[in-house]
Amino acid sequence: MTAFQSHPIRDPLLGTIAVPGDKSISHRALIFGALGVGETTITNLLEGDDVLRTAAAVRALGASVDRRSDGMWSVHGCGVGGLHEPAQVLDLGNSGTGVRLLMGVAATLPFTTYFAGDSSLSRRPMGRVMTPLEKFGAAFTSREGLLPCAVRGAKDPLPIEHQMTVASAQVKSAILLAGLNAPGETTVIETVATRDHTERMLRGFGADIRTEETSGARRITLVGQPELAGRAVHVPADPSSAAFFVVAATLIEGSDVTIERVSMNPLRAGLFEVLQEMGADISLSNTSDLNGEPVADLRVRGAPLHGIDVPPTRAPSMIDEYPVLAVAAAHAKGNTVMRGLEELRVKESNRLSALAEGLVACGVSVEATDDSLVVHGCGGDIPGGGQVTTHHDHRIAMAFAVLGFAARRPVTIDDDQMIGTSFPSFTALAEDLGAKLVPLDQ
Ligand code: S3P
Repeated sequence: MTAFQSHPIRDPLLGTIAVPGDKSISHRALIFGALGVGETTITNLLEGDDVLRTAAAVRALGASVDRRSDGMWSVHGCGVGGLHEPAQVLDLGNSGTGVRLLMGVAATLPFTTYFAGDSSLSRRPMGRVMTPLEKFGAAFTSREGLLPCAVRGAKDPLPIEHQMTVASAQVKSAILLAGLNAPGETTVIETVATRDHTERMLRGFGADIRTEETSGARRITLVGQPELAGRAVHVPADPSSAAFFVVAATLIEGSDVTIERVSMNPLRAGLFEVLQEMGADISLSNTSDLNGEPVADLRVRGAPLHGIDVPPTRAPSMIDEYPVLAVAAAHAKGNTVMRGLEELRVKESNRLSALAEGLVACGVSVEATDDSLVVHGCGGDIPGGGQVTTHHDHRIAMAFAVLGFAARRPVTIDDDQMIGTSFPSFTALAEDLGAKLVPLDQ
């Protein structure tokens, strides 16, 4: 754990950058590769700790997973239902996506799998996946819905129909992954659309999966026990990582930054739309399709922002981007009201309180409730100078580093270690663009 200081940047950010592969898609590429028959090759896999934990877990479940010297990953899967009982506990570190998706896989495999995580993951709710997975016939033993836990997978799984009670792509994906090894049709109904990488990628691997939209609900139906065929997956750049540089370039006057091949999945792009409504200058070019996912180059130029009201309906399409949006809001002129944020309380940290505390420490006035945050913008002049506690949360660390770039005084951040879970090259990329991130002696 190294504390660091993020210093104000006086010169514009200029240049073209590539941020690493998308975290959500990287986890799924490894997991579907492990469930496929034949070889899956993955280019631009995010090599952050979260994804490396998933790679180790699918290896422990019997898939062969290798990284070639050219950076391409190769997975030889065991087929749906063909994974083996792991001889060790699957420790997913900090990764909610890794653990919840793999709990879905394990729920319909006929053996016992043990899961664990770090101190942050061990505080996050797992009951939201355990309850629907029990309907397949799986049995969980846990510390009251928390990690560590054991799952005894169903020997003769039954397909289920499940109405989602929380807007969560991880829960939806866990159910679909369990449904893969159950005979017949498994259906998930969501009234709030969440990221659909699982559905898109399953289709690409040859599964029979359909999404019907009826009167505000999405019914996703998967036919169980397909043969998934290994394939080539190219992972687009992560919009949640791009977000830090999109905001940094927006806040620093005169900046002109292009970020290449960013996933523009409409269920992930909420932040860019909100920033545009606040006055940001973001344009898209080279739009194309990368194995079923829309991608584009994003060009961002510095622009003054004004506060807006961000309604709860936006939350699922930008759930990981509120920390950096709050930083943009702190710089904007006027108030930004963000509502529908209850899920922020159960992320890698309680992001709502971590954000509120950090902003106040940097001289920004805020009001937080159980599910909302109001940021009183500083009109381009954030005092900074505060000490921020990240609570083991990578996105809190990076968001406040960005705040430091655009503040009057340097911001001190208690821990840089978690940045590596999702964006190992963050510091190097920021420094290439002119940032000064200085480690502090312990
Ligand atoms: C993810 C879904 C979201 C998101 C997480 C990644 C995924 O979590 O916050 O970073 O890859 O499915 P929830 O499903 O809890 O909303």
